[in-house]
Amino acid sequence: MKLPQHIAIIMDGNGRWARKRGLPRTAGHKAGMESVKEIVETCNELGVKVLTLYAFSTENWKRPKKEIRLLMDYLKDFLAKYSNEFNKKNIKLNAIGQLEKLPQSARNRLISTIEMTKGNQGLILNLALSYGGRAEIIEAVKKLVKDVQDKKFSPEQIDENIFSSYLHTGGLPDPDLLIRTSGEMRISNFLLWQISYSELYITNKLWPDFRQGDLVKAINEYSQRKRRFGG
Ligand code: IPE
Ligand code: IPE
Ligand code: MG
Repeated sequence: MKLPQHIAIIMDGNGRWARKRGLPRTAGHKAGMESVKEIVETCNELGVKVLTLYAFSTENWKRPKKEIRLLMDYLKDFLAKYSNEFNKKNIKLNAIGQLEKLPQSARNRLISTIEMTKGNQGLILNLALSYGGRAEIIEAVKKLVKDVQDKKFSPEQIDENIFSSYLHTGGLPDPDLLIRTSGEMRISNFLLWQISYSELYITNKLWPDFRQGDLVKAINEYSQRKRRFGG
């Protein structure tokens, strides 16, 4: 089986999962954490190099304050609960997005877990938090322009590799497989530059229902795709 090096997932459908059960949306986020744990461990066991999870978008700040607060609390709890276990399993945590916008306590947890796991050689678990693809590109352009002004290189030297290195994902390979749960046929501002040749896999399963077997099914389908890259 051909294994994707980098899997990126738009974890959608927590609210719908909860509504179907007559529960508050936040119960869906809580249940979704169990899927996160299972998918992370499965990727690590399979030997996937990078797993990028879209956990909170720049647009998600538009949600009710109470839902945002609970999501941030769940993030903090998740890291508190599993960081030692992930560390033992050789998983390395990374994060992309406007991390300075996260509440202090969640950010501290995130930073300390990244620090604790930085020497690990297993799966890179890359969390996209307060992440937006357009914001990331604008930020990269600003840094690039500054470096050109500082004469680090000339505008003519800028190529795709240099530009990529200015993104938050600099140093990581592009996603081979992009999964979206709960059936929506859109990208929602996720990894706009990086997914130019990713294979897409959209499933109707809601995120809290997406488990090991569903991931294996997606990888199986991926391994049967013919990637031509325009050639
Ligand atoms: C995904 O589930 C989680 C986040 C975006 C944080 P949603 O909360 O978007 O759930 P639906 O799409 O409303 O069902
Ligand atoms: C995308 O889901 C963002 C995350 C999964 C974090 P949304 O639920 O925010 O996306 P839209 O609103 O359906 O595009
Ligand atoms: Mg949604």
